[in-house]
Amino acid sequence: MSIVFQEKSRTFHLFNEEISYIMTILPNGNMGQFYFGKRIHPKEDYSYLLEMVPRSMTSYVYEEERTLSLEHIKMEYGVYGSTDYRFPAVEILQENGSRIVDFCYQSHCIQPGKPKLKGLPATYTEKADEAETLTLFLTDKVTGIQLELFYTIFAHGGILARSARFTNQGEKTVHLLKAMSLCLDLPDCRYDWIQFSGAWARERHPFQRRLTPGIQSVGSMRGHSSHEHNPFFILKRPEADEFQGEVLGFSLVYSGNFLAQAEVDNQDTTRVLLGIHPEWFDWKLAPTEDFQTPEAVVVYTDQGLNSLSQTFHRLYQKRLARGYWRDRERPILFNNWEATYFDFTEEKLLALAKKAKESGAELFVLDDGWFGNRRNDRAGLGDWVANTDLLPEGITGLAEKIENLGMKFGLWFEPEMVNKDSVLYQKHPDWILSVPQRRQSQGRYQYVLDFSRKEVVDYIYDMMAAILGKAKVSYIKWDMNRSITECWSHALPSDRQGEVFHRYILGVYDLYERLTTAFPTVLFESCASGGARFDPGLLYYAPQGWTSDDTDAIERLKIQYGTSYCYPISSMGAHVSASPNHQLNRSTPFYTRANVAYFGTFGYELDLNRLTSRELEEMKRQTAFMKKYRGLLQFGTFYRLQSPFKENTAAWMTVSQDKDKALVGWYRVLNTVNSPYTRLKLTGLDPDRLYKVSQDGRPLGEFYGDELMHIGLITSDRNSGEVLEGEKPSCDFDSRIYILE
Ligand code: DGJ
Repeated sequence: MSIVFQEKSRTFHLFNEEISYIMTILPNGNMGQFYFGKRIHPKEDYSYLLEMVPRSMTSYVYEEERTLSLEHIKMEYGVYGSTDYRFPAVEILQENGSRIVDFCYQSHCIQPGKPKLKGLPATYTEKADEAETLTLFLTDKVTGIQLELFYTIFAHGGILARSARFTNQGEKTVHLLKAMSLCLDLPDCRYDWIQFSGAWARERHPFQRRLTPGIQSVGSMRGHSSHEHNPFFILKRPEADEFQGEVLGFSLVYSGNFLAQAEVDNQDTTRVLLGIHPEWFDWKLAPTEDFQTPEAVVVYTDQGLNSLSQTFHRLYQKRLARGYWRDRERPILFNNWEATYFDFTEEKLLALAKKAKESGAELFVLDDGWFGNRRNDRAGLGDWVANTDLLPEGITGLAEKIENLGMKFGLWFEPEMVNKDSVLYQKHPDWILSVPQRRQSQGRYQYVLDFSRKEVVDYIYDMMAAILGKAKVSYIKWDMNRSITECWSHALPSDRQGEVFHRYILGVYDLYERLTTAFPTVLFESCASGGARFDPGLLYYAPQGWTSDDTDAIERLKIQYGTSYCYPISSMGAHVSASPNHQLNRSTPFYTRANVAYFGTFGYELDLNRLTSRELEEMKRQTAFMKKYRGLLQFGTFYRLQSPFKENTAAWMTVSQDKDKALVGWYRVLNTVNSPYTRLKLTGLDPDRLYKVSQDGRPLGEFYGDELMHIGLITSDRNSGEVLEGEKPSCDFDSRIYILE
């Protein structure tokens, strides 16, 4: 990996063995984009890429010069208003009402490794030779605003991390109205755009369409990254698929309002923008103040979508997630939510914990309802003190009892929220986000605490730390169950109200940082009504997240499949729940529920008292299986093989680093009769190795890697149409696990 500056041609070339990123200082001092894609030879001069020809109906930068139009040039960080008519990366409102800025190159620096982003989550390096960072210093002379553009290229993988920082070195206050993390002008528009969208309980379904002239965008204005759209999207060549072809992935390391956009202009250039949503964003930048944008990560590969995902998985698993649990196999947990909801006593919890332990679970998680006067969702949020009517010896006592059963203990919090029926609200009614004299909208009967205020974050930290300091808590589920409305802080002046959404998220990050620092061995799982904040920002603090409130195995196929485009298996909370399922009322086999949840951080969330003794025996076999294979499942190389969005069957697999083991998950939604003979082509194996293959514990034979990859694994039903003696009849919602060793 290297970053080279060619003095003569004023060109920067960032490259590693996979990618090249080339940009230049334009004749007017702005930065222009030349190329991003597969690695090419370093060369002194690429100025032939400057597109400067006179055209009709074009505005030009200089009076006597009919070639330099920013409209026709691929810009590094586009601004609107001076011949570039595309949506800009930045908008700065100045004292005289003007928004014109002209950021010109001043200097640059190249350094090994990657500097931290103050107060924000970001990818990182452990050793200086893992990456190199280029900082470009640009200045807008009239306002005196300095813009630093950061580019980190990693030694391995087609990865580039980008962000921007604005510093007011002038004498007047300005307002930053838009400050994107990434702007990238691509030379054509022959791409399919894939976004990951949905709603509560059906998060991150992929939606694909061809780019067309104009804007295509997704975003969130809910105060969290949202169920509706994920801060991640893909541009893929139409002919590219899971296994080959050019694809680009764009991911924002941020948990608040975001905008992800692609604009195709009149010359078929595609401008990609990714960053904080400019709607309601207005950051006052007084002299000497600075503003750092979140980080955006862009990945390029010409090896198809699986390769793109694997690059994100490795990066986010190893160089975004941090701490004690980063590389550790995750405990099999039992969560009481769908088992009891609010209806529990300590006795009931301990009985469940005992059964969970006997069946192989390792961590007992007490979900919502253990604190203040919370017996339903109308009261108690904000009072993080155990309800001793329910738990006579508090959390300390319960944790002790769980530990004595031989399990670890985990606890649910929803730190950012308050019910009006709570001690916290009675004491501090102005600590919620709300506008004086206006109605406060509620969500799930709760209100959002103003995490832009340090005293609020301090107060919540103290309450949480008081419990964690005393009780043996090994895991925290951090929930967030409503979107933000009336986003206004009682602590900020009127000209800073446009900062609240972002300051709120900074407060969330601050609390996460303090807790993870003070309690470094606690495993954090993020959650927001399921997957409303399943984003890279939170992965920095919590190495796993609750993927969705939908625990139905068949729906989960889609959710986990969609989530896997960006996020690693080790980050996806996946539980076996009751049948009929509580969200869909669908009945599925117990083994299928487990076969789906294995591809995640596995656990159970159902009333174990309702399981038959056969099911409890099966649960023991499942937990033993997971303990044996979770290293491979959670940290192997994951491949999507068949999409549940396209076919009646879905399949995925994971392969160990040294390719000596692999696991295939095969799922069929509805049963079929007298079905065709089928083969499933595997991938990622060693072609020369002989693998022993078994299906659900039954040996199938020995096959070379090349056979399995080119002929395929035989997946035909032996009993399709007729029930065969000694064979399990096939059924709806069927599934299989194949082990290759
Ligand atoms: C929403 C979460 O996603 C659920 O798992 C559960 O923790 C509830 N909140 C509790 O209120």
